[in-house]
Amino acid sequence: MRLILLGPPGAGKGTQAHRLVEEHKIPQLSTGDMLRAAVAAGTETGLRAKAIMDAGKLVSDDVVNAIVSDRIDEADCANGFILDGYPRTLPQADAVEAMLAEKGTALDAVVELRVDDDAMVERVAGRYTCANCGAGYHDTLNKPEAEGVCDKCGSKEFKRRPDDNAEAMRTRLQVYYKETSPLIGYYYAKEKLRTVDGMGAIDQVSEEIGAVLAQV
Ligand code: AP5
Repeated sequence: MRLILLGPPGAGKGTQAHRLVEEHKIPQLSTGDMLRAAVAAGTETGLRAKAIMDAGKLVSDDVVNAIVSDRIDEADCANGFILDGYPRTLPQADAVEAMLAEKGTALDAVVELRVDDDAMVERVAGRYTCANCGAGYHDTLNKPEAEGVCDKCGSKEFKRRPDDNAEAMRTRLQVYYKETSPLIGYYYAKEKLRTVDGMGAIDQVSEEIGAVLAQV
């Protein structure tokens, strides 16, 4: 299955992508994670991307398209993948169509997670992840079972993102509405769009996504 998870910052794309990876045994391709890895590794791309990401703006289409194009050529993507946070602009959407057409394949579905602005801000403000395995948590909405210990790997080290602050969040929301939300119409016109209410509890959203994908 070749799937896009579309939605604003904090909609739950990463949370749901992690679950879909386990269920469908296909990889999650998060451009945000890939860019953060480049920043951590201090590569040329990472050095250029850091300030842009910290401010909540978008890294250039050329850079992101090249990263995704290389990644989907890898063997673990042969049976499908979940794109999380990509595409984010109309040129990126055209680029992914072209990449897949070149391989003689196409997208199966685009799942839009719809969430209120206030909920997004609350989710992002309280978010943290396991520094070892990347499992996502939240101060109040999604705590680990034992406080301070990752449910998945047992690590006690956690981290927060530098762009999860009020100022960057305002920019990220503006960028989403200006640059990314036009993709909703783009995929609706291609009959690929499936919209899910992202305001429910995490399990409830997963169930809705499962129901939608069962029809694809
Ligand atoms: P990226 O990492 O993609 O961030 P984002 O799109 O802003 O999305 P988030 O990761 O913030 O949110 P999410 O929807 O994954 O929510 P999550 O599941 O964590 O991008 C970061 C930056 O990289 C961009 O700003 C840009 O600079 C650059 N970039 C990346 N891709 C790019 C591209 N294609 N082009 C150009 N630049 C690019 O959930 C959030 C919190 O809520 C968690 O704590 C979670 O536990 C909780 N939660 C989730 N679901 C629920 C629920 N249903 N109920 C209650 N709590 C929930």
